[in-house]
Amino acid sequence: MDILGIDIGGTGIKGAIVDTVTGQLKSERMRILTPQPSTPEAVANTVYELVNKIGFDGPVACGFPSRVIHGVVKTAANIDKSWINVPVEELFSQRLNRPVYVANDADVAGLAELHYGAAKDVKGTVLFLTIGTGIGSCLFIDGTLCPNTELGHLKFHGDSAERYCSGAVKEREDLKWKEWGERFNEYLHYVSFLLQPDLIVLGGGASKKFEKYKEVLDIDIPVKTATMLNLAGIVGAGIYGSIRYNQESSK
Ligand code: BGC
Repeated sequence: MDILGIDIGGTGIKGAIVDTVTGQLKSERMRILTPQPSTPEAVANTVYELVNKIGFDGPVACGFPSRVIHGVVKTAANIDKSWINVPVEELFSQRLNRPVYVANDADVAGLAELHYGAAKDVKGTVLFLTIGTGIGSCLFIDGTLCPNTELGHLKFHGDSAERYCSGAVKEREDLKWKEWGERFNEYLHYVSFLLQPDLIVLGGGASKKFEKYKEVLDIDIPVKTATMLNLAGIVGAGIYGSIRYNQESSK
């Protein structure tokens, strides 16, 4: 089926129509800057604008950079604090006048990697980490998503892990890739100790520079880079939307 997949980020809101059977885009990918401040009303309006620009009247699904529990935003690490406890699915569904499904951005990007990318056909425990402004996480056990894990917020070095080794920290502290990689390596040891994954997939901006720090990673678990790159958020939102749509249609 076709779903309009939207990736809501701190700087841009991107979307395209996704054929959820093939994982291919059926429209051009469009991007609108995230409004500042990124309050719920302002983001809902931008999502509305994007959907109209693309021109689609079917179901919509979004990846959103927070814990989303039963359609309600529960955390706001890198988004406007006014989002906390906002029923985002209800807000967007009313604004767009149709069903809108919303899940954590890393969870939906992980779904794209599981279905069409680096974790395709991998059994066992797969941990997907996306490294950008924050660190997002997505955990699969034999292909089943364990949602909202938020491993970027594990306490690490006295603060949340993403404040120690996200892509934004690398920029802010002007770390060389190897210096950053050493920090990230410590973090990988920690999450691997907790979960013993069979495979770790890295996504987000830092995954594109893997060659520059891979030699400092010394965990004994295979680490691969994501293959869906900047389409993972959109395609994954489409996959997530089709799962929810089918669940709801069979009720
Ligand atoms: C947020 C997560 C999100 C990640 C990547 C973190 O700061 O808490 O929900 O998945 O950033 O955007």
